[in-house]
Amino acid sequence: MSNICVIGTGYVGLVTGTCFADLGNTVVCVDIDAERIKGLNQDRLPIFEPGLEEMVARNRRKGRLKFTTSYDEGVENAEFVFLAVGTPSDSDGSADMRQVEAAAQGVGKCLRQDAVIINKSTVPIGTGDQVARILREHAPSGLRFEVVSNPEFLREGSAVLDFMEPDRIIIGSDDGESARRVAELYHALGARIMITSLRTAEMIKYASNAILASRISFINEIAQTCEKLGADVKVVAEGMGLDKRIGNLFLNAGIGFGGSCFPKDVKALKRMAEQVGCDPKLLTAVMHINAEQRLLFVEKVERAIGGLRSKSLGVWGLSFKPNTDDLRDAPSIDIISLLLERGASVKAYDPAAMERFSEIVPSAVLCKNAYEAASGCDALLLLTEWNEFKQVDLAAVKHSMARPVFLDGRNLSDPEEMVRLGFEYWGVGRACPAKPLDGDSKTSSVVSTSSK
Ligand SMILES: NC(=O)c1ccc[n+]([C@@H]2O[C@H](COP(=O)([O-])OP(=O)(O)OC[C@H]3O[C@@H](n4cnc5c(N)ncnc54)[C@H](O)[C@@H]3O)[C@@H](O)[C@H]2O)c1
Repeated sequence: MSNICVIGTGYVGLVTGTCFADLGNTVVCVDIDAERIKGLNQDRLPIFEPGLEEMVARNRRKGRLKFTTSYDEGVENAEFVFLAVGTPSDSDGSADMRQVEAAAQGVGKCLRQDAVIINKSTVPIGTGDQVARILREHAPSGLRFEVVSNPEFLREGSAVLDFMEPDRIIIGSDDGESARRVAELYHALGARIMITSLRTAEMIKYASNAILASRISFINEIAQTCEKLGADVKVVAEGMGLDKRIGNLFLNAGIGFGGSCFPKDVKALKRMAEQVGCDPKLLTAVMHINAEQRLLFVEKVERAIGGLRSKSLGVWGLSFKPNTDDLRDAPSIDIISLLLERGASVKAYDPAAMERFSEIVPSAVLCKNAYEAASGCDALLLLTEWNEFKQVDLAAVKHSMARPVFLDGRNLSDPEEMVRLGFEYWGVGRACPAKPLDGDSKTSSVVSTSSK
């Protein structure tokens, strides 16, 4: 078992540190945010991540997991130091490297023994070399350290499971012995490990996120055409996905991707490509289509209820995806801000992200449950496909609304079922609207349904 230090206790650092402790290692997690560390030392988590709270408490009780603001305490005995700090977008789209640089400096100053420094943050290609330079500048002379890239692929909402059962572990190093030692840390997981050069590992992370984002923008572009031509994109995606070469993941049309990774990583990759004289046309289109989906959805709401001024709208879901409280670049922020700007009032409910949302968009009214958000509204908008929304009594919701107009930003619902319940249903890339015929329970415009 090893002594590990993790710098940064966000989604990646906290999950990494806790899971390594759970595998039997001794882990010290360091963060500059004193409030965050104080909370963690009382088993209060700064983020919502299923299964993590219990795991933190258990490993703290066993004395294998510690949290501190002191680099000295974290780094002095560490054989492995993971950097898991943020790399947000800079104003020109490139990755803002200040957290990584500060972390590398902090680690360098506190190194007291040979160590492997492992970068888990998503960083521009060449950062490994830059981190090594910073460490050399600040570390006491005579110490031997290597920098390894080990990009993280966990998904918020299933991060613990993703850490414990990864599809693959990428280890990038120009030093075979360090790569082997890092691979050994993951041995217990029995996962497939791929060892590459430092720069290749850094690129694998960006390219992976970029293709996932591209699939979403691709299907959204198809959705725009489906809607005009009367095809149902959900069924189209299902039919496409049956081809093993295509598969069905990341082909859900809707209001587009958000979150802390896809938007910033696509932008950073685009910027990197431009800086070396390439012309990343596909990445440019991916971002453009994604921004457009949010706007098109707002316009659809406008069309559905005949303008927005003085209309009351209910919103289900704020986080950028289900099972997380993360609101970074969530479509809900742009969509709700635009709806408010155009004169509507908005009542919203989310199972985990409301507190943070009220800091970002204070004029949206937050509700204590899905029913309250829908009550009295001219239209109900589903922006995040939390499981909770699949279990709501839709008949009760319909009766409480001023007008039973349902705009499904994630194509969660079955249009025929919604129409049977008396809703006017507007999905994304499906015949719009699907609505009850007068005095009839049959639909007037649902053109096709997905196989169940
Ligand atoms: N969130 C994800 O789903 C995810 C998945 C894969 C990869 N990544 C990448 O991992 C990295 C971290 O992402 P995150 O979502 O965990 O970020 P985050 O913003 O949630 O957490 C970053 C943490 O680092 C701390 N920090 C900042 N500067 C520090 C410093 N100098 N010393 C110590 N702590 C410092 C912050 O206080 C914060 O707690 C990013 O590069 C991200 O792109 C994120």
